[in-house]
Amino acid sequence: MYKIIAREDLTPDIHLFKIAAPAVAKKVRAGQFVIVRIDEKGERIPLTIADYDSIEGSVTIVFMEVGKTTCQLATLEVGDFIANFAGPLGLPTEIENYGTVVCVAGGFAVAPAFAISKAMKQAGNKVISIVGARTKSLLFWEDRMRSVSDKLILTTDDGSYGRKGLVTEPLKKLLQNSKVDRVIAIGPTVMMKFCSLTTKPFGVKTIVSLNPIMVDGTGMCGCCRVSVGGETKFACVDGPDFDGHQVDWDLLLSRQCAYLDEEKRALELWQSARDKQKGRQSCHASIEPN
Ligand SMILES: Cc1cc2nc3c(=O)[nH]c(=O)nc-3n(C[C@H](O)[C@H](O)[C@H](O)COP(=O)(O)OP(=O)(O)OC[C@H]3O[C@@H](n4cnc5c(N)ncnc54)[C@H](O)[C@@H]3O)c2cc1C
Ligand code: FES
Repeated sequence: MYKIIAREDLTPDIHLFKIAAPAVAKKVRAGQFVIVRIDEKGERIPLTIADYDSIEGSVTIVFMEVGKTTCQLATLEVGDFIANFAGPLGLPTEIENYGTVVCVAGGFAVAPAFAISKAMKQAGNKVISIVGARTKSLLFWEDRMRSVSDKLILTTDDGSYGRKGLVTEPLKKLLQNSKVDRVIAIGPTVMMKFCSLTTKPFGVKTIVSLNPIMVDGTGMCGCCRVSVGGETKFACVDGPDFDGHQVDWDLLLSRQCAYLDEEKRALELWQSARDKQKGRQSCHASIEPN
C-alpha cells in the first residue's frame, strides 16, 4: 500500500499527490510513468511521474479529473493509501546537451514538462518553455517553470493571461526567428499533433509523449499500440516518447475514443453510487472525445 503524504489542488480539477514510494523514487528518470490502481477492484491507469525525491522516498503525480478513476483518485486525502503504484515504467526521455530546447506543455502536462525542462537545463541546454491553457485559472506552476527555463512564454486561448492564442503560435515564431535544436511537446494529443505539424517544415526533431489507453504497462496486452513511421510500437515499453513527425495521429486519436460509451457509463455509475453513499462531493469531469 502506498501512502499519500501531500496533496495540492493546482486547479479545480488538476491535483498533485506526493506518494511514499521509495523503490520507485530510487530508480525513476524524467519522462517515465507509473501505473496506479486505487484499490483491488480498481482499473489500472498510467500517470507520468512529475517529480521525485529519492532521499525522502517520494514520488509526485499530477492528474486531471477526466473519468471514473481520476475522479475517484481526487476524493483521496493525505493519509489515505493507494493499492498499487507500479513503476517506473517506460523509457526515460532522452536528455542530452542539444543546444536550444523548446519545451511545450498544456493541461496537466505542465508537471511532467517541468521534470523534463529541469533535466534539459541541468544537461546544459538553453531551455525555452511554452505553457498553454484554455484560461488563466487553469495555469499552474508558472514560478516552477520559470525557475528551469531561460525564457517562459505563457498562452491562454481566451487571452486572460499571457499571449492570446494557442501554443503553436509562439512555437512557430521561435522556429522562424531563432535556432531551435529540439522540441519536446507534452499534453493533449491534439496539441502534440499540431506542435509536430508546426515543426515539421523546419526539420526540427520533435519528441512527443504519447498517451494511448494502457492496461498492463509492460508490453503484454497490446492495448497501447501506436503506429510510428509505419511500424507498430507499444507506447508503454517502446515509449511513451516518440518522434512526433512519424506518429500516425489520426489512428491514435480514434483509438483513444474506442471506449467512450463504457467510460461514460463507468463514470455515471460511480458518481451515482458515491452520491447515494455520501450525498456530497463534486467531480469536475465531463467525458468528451479529445
Ligand atoms: C504514459 C501515460 C502517462 C499519462 N500521464 C498522465 C498524467 O500525468 N496526468 C494525467 O492526468 N493523465 C495522464 N495520462 C492520462 C490518464 O492515464 C487518463 O486520463 C486516465 O487513464 C483516465 O482514466 P479515467 O478512468 O479517469 O477516465 P476514462 O473514463 O478512462 O476516460 C475519460 C476520458 O479521458 C480520455 N482518456 C482516457 N484515457 C486517456 C489517456 N490515456 N490519455 C488521454 N485521454 C484519455 C478518454 O478518451 C475519455 O474521454 C497518461 C496517459 C499515459 C498513457
Ligand atoms: S499497455 Fe499493454 S502493451 Fe502497453
